Amino acid sequence: MMEQSVVVNGLTKRFGDFTAVNNISFSVSHGEIFGFLGPNGAGKSTTIRMLCGILTPTEGSGTVAGHDIVNEQNKIKNSIGYMSQKFSLYSELTVIENLEFFGSIYGLSGNHLKERMEYVLDMAEIGKRRRERVSSLPGGIKQRLALGSAIIHDPSILFLDEPTSGVDPLMRRNFWELIYDFSRRGKTIFVTTHYMDEAEHCGRMALIIAGKIIAYGSPQELKSELHHDVYTLKVDNFIRVFDTLSALPFIDEAAIFGSDIHLLCGKGFGMKRELSSALKSSGVQEFSLEKIPPTLEDVFVTHARRLGV
Ligand SMILES: Nc1ncnc2c1ncn2[C@@H]1O[C@H](COP(=O)(O)OP(=O)(O)OP(=O)(O)O)[C@@H](O)[C@H]1O
Ligand SMILES: [Mg+2]
Repeated sequence: MMEQSVVVNGLTKRFGDFTAVNNISFSVSHGEIFGFLGPNGAGKSTTIRMLCGILTPTEGSGTVAGHDIVNEQNKIKNSIGYMSQKFSLYSELTVIENLEFFGSIYGLSGNHLKERMEYVLDMAEIGKRRRERVSSLPGGIKQRLALGSAIIHDPSILFLDEPTSGVDPLMRRNFWELIYDFSRRGKTIFVTTHYMDEAEHCGRMALIIAGKIIAYGSPQELKSELHHDVYTLKVDNFIRVFDTLSALPFIDEAAIFGSDIHLLCGKGFGMKRELSSALKSSGVQEFSLEKIPPTLEDVFVTHARRLGV
């Protein structure tokens, strides 16, 4: 069994003068759920397309399932499953016609194809809708069918490009149950997302901004590397207070989290005392301030601001 499902070194993709992916290196272990977290335009899809043998890197090297990403793109395509950001389903075909089509692309036929189709219909819980056309299905069902189509040939590595964007929270939760299920069966999952809560589900992750990996490790490691203490502030009329807070010299970051504000300051700084006097002198008497463990969003905000994103 291979130890590493994905290994890349110095991977770079340029489109003309523009560098979409800039000298990134990382590895994904066999059986791992690896998250690739980044904002719009960060280079997530470009990376995933290089890993899936669809785009050729401008520079750099690597292997996926033991195959070279530059010279063995066809071998890669047969050994992985890829769910693209715009699910590539045929909307005029029914659910089973789509599965038949994708199965035949991967060379499945006869009883083997039937067995795999039944497995996928069952796994994705879409068996009851097997005769319906894709165009009439709700988004969450399409998403599960797209996942099913990507795994019809039982690949050992699954690449998912923002698989849950645009579906409701319950559907997202259900979809993650499926991902965990694959992981328990020993499959490797590489998933891109811009949802922080999804990144929390990953064993390890890379944070990519403007084509560069700027943090890499388990969610716990990334949080513990943060050079800040994090506080949560509850205050009435928090939008008005926000500008005052942002201007305070000892606050490195202020970010709105629901109805609270997260404040980041240097480790060990006497935030409570300093902030109390600053708020009182700007006329705010009532507030509560509590030190909290950092979230991945705090990590993300800190890196993004540092890079001026
Ligand atoms: N074929 C292309 N030609 C020119 N520029 C491209 C091409 N493909 C992607 N880009 C640019 O490269 C950058 C990275 O794009 P990419 O699609 O990889 O980002 P992403 O992280 O997947 O973003 P999103 O979250 O919006 O899907 C973007 O600025 C995009 O416009
Ligand atoms: Mg993308």
